[in-house]
Amino acid sequence: MATFELIQGDITTIAVDAIVNAANSSLQGGGGVDGAIHRAAGPGLLAECFQMNGCPTGEARLTGGYDLPAKFVIHAVGPRWRGGNHGEVGLLAATYRSALALAKECDVRSIAFPAISCGIYGYPVEEAARVAVDTVRKHAAGMPELERGIFVCFDEKTYEAYDVALNTAE
Ligand code: APR
Repeated sequence: MATFELIQGDITTIAVDAIVNAANSSLQGGGGVDGAIHRAAGPGLLAECFQMNGCPTGEARLTGGYDLPAKFVIHAVGPRWRGGNHGEVGLLAATYRSALALAKECDVRSIAFPAISCGIYGYPVEEAARVAVDTVRKHAAGMPELERGIFVCFDEKTYEAYDVALNTAE
């Protein structure tokens, strides 16, 4: 059964089997954590992403980690917030499930997640943290090989939202 940790920091520095990227459907890089991961991984990451034919929202794709301390990058495409009546909750949950399904396929023992959709995609952090924590905990229960999950928040507001979500029952 995995243990879950919460840290405030830069996900590109975390030495785990896989870090999850908050990507867009083109998989061609972007700003936010996507930009940071590509900068830290080096050109090999984009070259591998070029081989893929994008990724629909709610799904994920796996690549190598290149110059990152992580072995793999799981590029997960979360939903853009459109007010909450366009299936955002289900899509965000599907994004975390898709990332964990790929982690399971590659026998990942440790994984780090950013706050998917909480930046440029505008998802309210409190709601997103609740979806993230509940979905990851539920799905990880079926992954005996997963030992460690880390939620990596870049700023204090996000950290506090995840702290509440991790320490209150769903
Ligand atoms: N480490 C951890 N978290 C980070 C980092 C980092 N180095 N940089 C940013 N973040 C945080 C943001 O503060 C936010 O809380 O990641 C969370 C997700 O924000 P974004 O990176 O903006 O991702 P998202 O909201 O899912 O929007 C995706 O943004 O970067 C583009 O190509 C990406 O088009 C896609 C869109």
